[in-house]
Order: sequence, then structure tokens, then C-alpha cells
Amino acid sequence: MLIKGKVLKILEENKGKNISGEEIAKKLNISRTSIWKAINALRSEGYTINAVTNKGYSLATNTDFISKEGISLYLNNEYSKIDIYTYKLVSSTNDVAKTLALNGAKHGTVTISEEQSVGKGRLGRVFYSPANTGIYMSIILRPNLTAMDSVLITTSASVAICNAIQKVTGIECQIKWINDIYLNNKKVGGILTEASTNFESGTIDYLILGIGLNFNKPKESFPKELETIASSLFSNNNGNINRNILCAEIVNNILSMIPQIKSYDFISEYKKRSIILNNEIVYISAGVSSIGKAIDINNDGSLVVKHDDGSIKVLNSGEVTIRRLN
Ligand code: BTN
Repeated sequence: MLIKGKVLKILEENKGKNISGEEIAKKLNISRTSIWKAINALRSEGYTINAVTNKGYSLATNTDFISKEGISLYLNNEYSKIDIYTYKLVSSTNDVAKTLALNGAKHGTVTISEEQSVGKGRLGRVFYSPANTGIYMSIILRPNLTAMDSVLITTSASVAICNAIQKVTGIECQIKWINDIYLNNKKVGGILTEASTNFESGTIDYLILGIGLNFNKPKESFPKELETIASSLFSNNNGNINRNILCAEIVNNILSMIPQIKSYDFISEYKKRSIILNNEIVYISAGVSSIGKAIDINNDGSLVVKHDDGSIKVLNSGEVTIRRLN
């Protein structure tokens, strides 16, 4: 790790508290001048680092840049060695992850960017990804599962994300089938899963789990077409949370869910957070619009809808658009 990274790790560990240059120098066994240079380099990247005579340096609590050092600090021990690649701007963290996966990147590798120029959503849509107001992150997974199971990864990931948000911010998000994250009836995040499977065995070679979450984006800052349907966590700009902690918690939750995914334990939490379960919905399947009541979600993530005439339709992901009636 470069000196700058090591200094940043110590500052992140002591965020909001003073730590003297001497103490940092001693911890890292390097000169005070090297510390000073690293502090200046971090400042020129935008970090607010206060310096008080006789007290030392402190990283301002409202400095919220995502960094490998900041995330690693909060990862569970067993994941502390995963590879994390951070960027200021990329086209799409899913595309960057795909290239890494093709070059052999390991299970758990993370790509994350402060901004995406071509953030991708499901069904060929664009995911609006302006600078410093979101989490745009992809995780490379190499689970011992088949292509048929990839929907389980997406559904369990939406639970993992909601649980992480609740633990770190106290905010209770909901899930709109199949994997949109909702708050107050508006979408605040989504998941895009892209998998490559072995043609003969049907097993997943690698799966890119792309997670997008909106933060501190006031209503007016969304493009017109999204204004009424999208929102963000802390839409009043009143959030002072550490995105590194949230990223780490999401990674912890997702990686720990994968080995036990076939126990389907996450489904009960998924149902609890479902925004459509037990509600009247409109769904469009194969171009035909129908009305029914969402009565259950199966272990495989499929949605059970009951129509007024008593008939039942089981919907699988990908083929339907859906909305609540009221
Ligand atoms: C959706 O809501 O349709 C899915 C949105 C997924 C967005 C994330 S942001 C990180 C990753 N990179 C992308 O280009 N897309 C996903």
C-alpha cells in the first residue's frame, strides 16, 4: 500500500478525532515530512483534513469519499482481503468488473465509482449516476450455483442491501419485486445482475452483481422523467453517513448470504419488506395488462398472483412490468 493509502487508513480509523503527525509517523515508521506530503496529496484530492497546532490532524466527519482503505476498515475479518478497486469516473462498474472477471478476478472482488457515465439499469435502461451522490458498486461472485439460481442471488442481495441500510442509517427500505429498493413509494436503488455461465455444465462461471443507490439527491436534481418515480436516501441533503461503512456492510451481508442461499432463509425477510405483497397490482406480461392480487413469493423468487376469477398466475422475473394499483 502506498504511504498515502496508509495515512488515509489511519485518518479514517480516527475520523473526527485528532491524531498527531508524530503518532502517525511512529505507527508507519516513516518521517514527518512523508506524512505531510501524504496529507497534502489527500487534500488535493478533496479530503478535508483539519490541522490544529499541538493536536494534529483530523479527517472532517463530513468528508465522505469512498475509498478502498475506508471500506476495508469495516469488512468482516474473513473478507478483509478481498480486492477493492475504486474510481472517480467509469462508464459502468459492471463493465469494469466484467473485464476483471474475464482476467480471473476472485470471488468477492469489488469495483466502485463516485460517478458513472453510462450507468446501466435493467431492461436496457440507464441508471442515473451523477458524482458523489450515490453508491455505484459491483461485486464479482463465483458461487457454486447454476444459472437457474442467479435469481436467488438477486433477491437475497436486495434483502442484504435493505438490512445494511437499516443497520447503518436506521432507514427501513422496502423491496419492489423483483429487486428495486424503495423508500416512501419511490425507487432509491436497484440491482443489475449479469452472469456468464458454462454452456455445458450450466454452472455460473462468474456473476456481476451491480448495486446502485441514490444518496443526498434532492428531488429537483433528478432528470424530469425520473422526478416522480425516483428518490434518494436523505433526499433533503440531511444525511451525514459514512458511505464506506454502508458499502462494507452491503459486501459483508452479500458475501455471507451466498453460502447459505439454498436454505432460502432470506425469503421471509424479503416478504416482510415487499411493497406489493398482499396488494392489488397491475402486471404486463407478453404485452397484455392484467389486474390481480400479489398473494405470495416463492422460494425461487417467483410472484404468485390471484385474479378475481380465482385463477392463479406465477410470474417469473424479467418478463413482466408491475405496479401497485393505489
Ligand atoms: C435497475 O434499477 O434497473 C438496476 C440499476 C443498477 C445500477 C448499478 S450502479 C452499479 C452497477 N453499474 C451499472 O452500470 N449498473 C449497476
